[in-house]
Amino acid sequence: KSLLLFVVIFIITLDYVKNRRPAGFPPGPGALPIVGNIFTWDQNRPHERLMELARIYGDVYSLRFGQKWSVVLNGFEAIKEALVTNGDSMVDRPALAMQQDVSGGLGVIMSNGNIWKQQRRFALSTLKYFGFGKKSLEPIILDEFTHCAEELRSHKGKPVNPHLIINNAVSNIICHLVFGHRFEYGDAKFRKLMLLFDKALQIEASTWAQLYNSFSLLMRLLPGPHQTVKRIWSDVKDFIREELDQHKKNWDPSERRDYIDCYLQEIQTNKEQDGNTFDEENLIMCVLDLFVAGSETTSTTLRWAFLYMAKYPEIQEKVQAEIDSVIGLSRQPCMEDRANLPYTDAVIHEILRMGNIAPLALPHSTNKEVQLGGYTIPKGVLIIPNLASVLFDKKEWESPSTFNPGHFLNDEGKFTRNAAFIPFSAGKRLCLGENLARMELFLFFTSLMQHFSFSMPAGLKVVMDYRAGVTLAPKPYEICIKQR
Ligand code: HEM
Repeated sequence: KSLLLFVVIFIITLDYVKNRRPAGFPPGPGALPIVGNIFTWDQNRPHERLMELARIYGDVYSLRFGQKWSVVLNGFEAIKEALVTNGDSMVDRPALAMQQDVSGGLGVIMSNGNIWKQQRRFALSTLKYFGFGKKSLEPIILDEFTHCAEELRSHKGKPVNPHLIINNAVSNIICHLVFGHRFEYGDAKFRKLMLLFDKALQIEASTWAQLYNSFSLLMRLLPGPHQTVKRIWSDVKDFIREELDQHKKNWDPSERRDYIDCYLQEIQTNKEQDGNTFDEENLIMCVLDLFVAGSETTSTTLRWAFLYMAKYPEIQEKVQAEIDSVIGLSRQPCMEDRANLPYTDAVIHEILRMGNIAPLALPHSTNKEVQLGGYTIPKGVLIIPNLASVLFDKKEWESPSTFNPGHFLNDEGKFTRNAAFIPFSAGKRLCLGENLARMELFLFFTSLMQHFSFSMPAGLKVVMDYRAGVTLAPKPYEICIKQR
């Protein structure tokens, strides 16, 4: 017994000495031995809990998960100082076990250094080429809307959960971009892929992931969903590899049909270059990243849009009236219409602000010692930018917790920007798909409002509750989508 007691006291003392808050480090709540602040994390409302702690410890404070120190940033000034002013020191991603198992440090989202630089630059230029260059995705998005509208119409205004339909539509735009083709909504292979994504993302946002990332050595030996997630991503990669093989079979270097074609060309061009990172493994991971980052995000935003429109019918009618007068019914919307639809544009921005779908962005990591908010943060500390604290900051918005398109309109009713609008984050790791997401949201939302009206099933009230996962999504709901 006394030996056991000695061992326990020894471990706790060792943990205390080894894991003390470093000198000059931001303050934070007291941490338990071994597990640190793991129980301070509220997986059901993480960003709100982190905002509560900011009221006690200030905008920059620290938490310890297992052996790893993290710094949480709150408010516009602290996040700007970190991600923009000190952008170079904050550009890395931490090596989290669950994400490392999948990416192996490849691709764009979780890579660092030369791999990240090359893969991000290439992805940005290819998205620009397909998004806004000669091969614009505009007609592709509008065509996908036509399929989506057909599917929505088939429910004849009866209550429907729009999740799967919208997910399919948005994922199809990424499919077009990377594979050069779409899938029918009923396609069994596509359905399976969507379900795999959903399952893996749910596990990645669960307490299991938190435990695995904090105690990876121990958890690797135990069974659990963290083991399943590896198998799921490996199935998804097989799916991408099949598409890649198909592309290689009928590849014509003079034609750039999609992202994979462009990438195959890049592999050829860079073959002999020093420090080249373009290869098939990186290609597969980049495609996976575009799916992960580009599907759930935009589709969750649209699902919030439906709820906000049902909750505020007067705003919905005002949007429809603006679209009716500027576009009418005889043609589809186009990106050039945006300048003439300031109210609709303001409503989309307010949906993105209130929807707050990526409240904690993605984790960053310091790659050298850095001064922040008067504190010293050593190299290798995990940084959590609480974007929600900026999107709902009382200092930045007239009525932060109210859905108010006026946040983006001036006195003359013209669209106006607000620097604190950062749902896509800021600095060097700023969302790579921001322009594509804005294009998808504008074209889809405007087309939907042009043809449909959204209301709750009789007798039901709109509930704006969220479910915190990889994105902050509305809890599953049914809605009536009626042809106008
Ligand atoms: C990263 C938001 C749509 C691709 C991010 C980040 C946020 C974000 C907050 C993390 C930035 C950081 O680490 O500081 C959103 C929102 C979207 C959206 C709100 C839609 C409403 C898209 C789309 C794509 C995309 C459509 C691609 C087609 C990416 C990628 C990254 C990223 C690849 C990682 C960038 C890097 O690590 O360098 N996004 N995103 N996103 N996003 Fe988006």
